[in-house]
Amino acid sequence: MEEKIIIAVLAGTTRPLRESIKAARYVAQIGQTFADVEIIFVDPIEYEFPNDGNDTENKNPDYSAITAKADAFFIVTPEYNHGYPGSLKRMLDSEYANYKHKPVALAGASNGPWGGVRVCEALLPVLHRMGMVIIQPEVYFPRVQDIFDEEGKIKTTFAALQEKNIRASYQELIWMARTLKQGGAVH
Ligand SMILES: Cc1cc2nc3c(=O)[nH]c(=O)nc-3n(C[C@H](O)[C@H](O)[C@H](O)COP(=O)(O)O)c2cc1C
Repeated sequence: MEEKIIIAVLAGTTRPLRESIKAARYVAQIGQTFADVEIIFVDPIEYEFPNDGNDTENKNPDYSAITAKADAFFIVTPEYNHGYPGSLKRMLDSEYANYKHKPVALAGASNGPWGGVRVCEALLPVLHRMGMVIIQPEVYFPRVQDIFDEEGKIKTTFAALQEKNIRASYQELIWMARTLKQGGAVH
C-alpha cells in the first residue's frame, strides 16, 4: 500500500458554546475512513501560542510537530463577521515553512443559510500568501446548530449530501498531497 497521507484537521474556534466543533469532528471522522490517510485532529483549545516577544512566529512546539509532519490540512471554521476566528488566524500565523507548498481544503460553518461561504472566501488571500495550495470543492455547513444531534452525530437528512461533498474534498486533497510530495515540494 502507498505511504499514508497525514492530514491535520483544524477546528477554527475556541468559543465555549461552539457548534462548529461538531462539523470539524465529523470531517475528521470521514477522513479516518480513507485507508491511505492518517488524521490528526487539532482543537485550538488545547494549544497556547504565547506572545513572548522573542519569536516573530510565536510557535507552540506541540503544534509545530503536527504541522511539520502533516502533508495536508483541512480547515473547518465558523464565520465570524464574515471573517475567520482569531484562534484560527493565530494557528496559521504561528508557522510558515510547515504550511508552505502543502494543500489545504476548506469547510465553513454558520447558523444561517450560507454555511460559512464568506469565511472560506476571506481565507483565500491568507492561505495564498502562505504559499498553500487551495483545493476544491469547498464544504459548507449551513444551520450548523440543526444538522447534528446532541452527541454530535449528523442527522440522516443531511448525512448523504455532506458526506459526498466532504469525500470529494478529501479525494482532491489526497491527490494533491501525493502529487506535491512526488514532485519534491520544498517546505
Ligand atoms: C462573534 C460572532 C460573529 C458571527 N458572525 C457571523 C457572520 O458573519 N455570519 C454568519 O453566518 N454567522 C455569524 N455568526 C454566527 C455563527 O454562524 C454561529 O455561532 C455558528 O454556530 C457557528 O459558530 P460557532 O462554532 O462559534 O458556534 C457569528 C457568531 C459570533 C460568535
